[in-house]
Amino acid sequence: MADRAIEDDQSKPSIARIYDYLLGGHDNHPVDRAIGDIFINDLPGSPAIARANRQALIRAVGAIADEGVSQFVDLGSGLPTEDNVHQVAQRHSPDARVVYVDHDPSAVVRSRALLAGDERTVVIEADLRDPERIHGDPAVRALIDFDRPVGVIFSGVLHHLNDSERPAEPVRRWAELVAPGSRFYISHFRSGRNGETRAVEQKLQASLGRGRWRTDEEIAALFGDLELLEPGVVPCTLWRPEGVPGEPTVWEQLITCGLAAKR
Ligand SMILES: C[S@@+](CC[C@H](N)C(=O)[O-])C[C@H]1O[C@@H](n2cnc3c(N)ncnc32)[C@H](O)[C@@H]1O
Repeated sequence: MADRAIEDDQSKPSIARIYDYLLGGHDNHPVDRAIGDIFINDLPGSPAIARANRQALIRAVGAIADEGVSQFVDLGSGLPTEDNVHQVAQRHSPDARVVYVDHDPSAVVRSRALLAGDERTVVIEADLRDPERIHGDPAVRALIDFDRPVGVIFSGVLHHLNDSERPAEPVRRWAELVAPGSRFYISHFRSGRNGETRAVEQKLQASLGRGRWRTDEEIAALFGDLELLEPGVVPCTLWRPEGVPGEPTVWEQLITCGLAAKR
């Protein structure tokens, strides 16, 4: 009953559902679409940013699984819309297991409903700033063998943390908690490098009211002592593209990503 009440709470917008709307999904309510439409009307490249982010995530999860890592912890997972981490991972590695973590209760309830019956996924409601809580959760420990490498995913989420919330800290702590051979993926809003991109950045930041866009150097620093893998931190559309990518548009320059290894 409580879960249903949360799921049906249509009074407040949710980042996860707005993002789903921008991706063309149907797991959203009028209150989410109202904000999503502000993005689309004022910032017509928003869906392109969301798509570039999602496509890079799909390639990164495939690359991690192809390197033999078949267990994932996806922090700030949002809604498991089409081709999410577990589907991609299981395509590359049939026994792949995925823990989804989000602090938005409505995203968690909806995710659990969508993933019901899939015994290789677990959805946890938690703040990613509390790695110990997630690492120690009995459901997480039942699914993930922390003596073996893990793919730790921070996709489109660390930019929601202000500097005072120390966004590098959960990455550093997870790097201590997982086995050598683990992989870390981060995608992140990237500070504009010219007037046009800076104007877009200011509008987006004002719409969300929190978080911080960062430069490639600041995003690379979030990986701490981990070994950054090729091609480093680059716009998502240029991260290990399939085929020859075009020059990133103004919008596509605003979302960047990288993959690192714990040796
Ligand atoms: C833009 S969505 C990204 C979804 C997905 N990771 C992707 O890249 O496709 C950001 C998600 O992070 C979640 N989030 C934001 N801050 C968080 C925090 N401190 N702890 C856990 N989740 C958080 C939001 O609720 C939202 O679902």
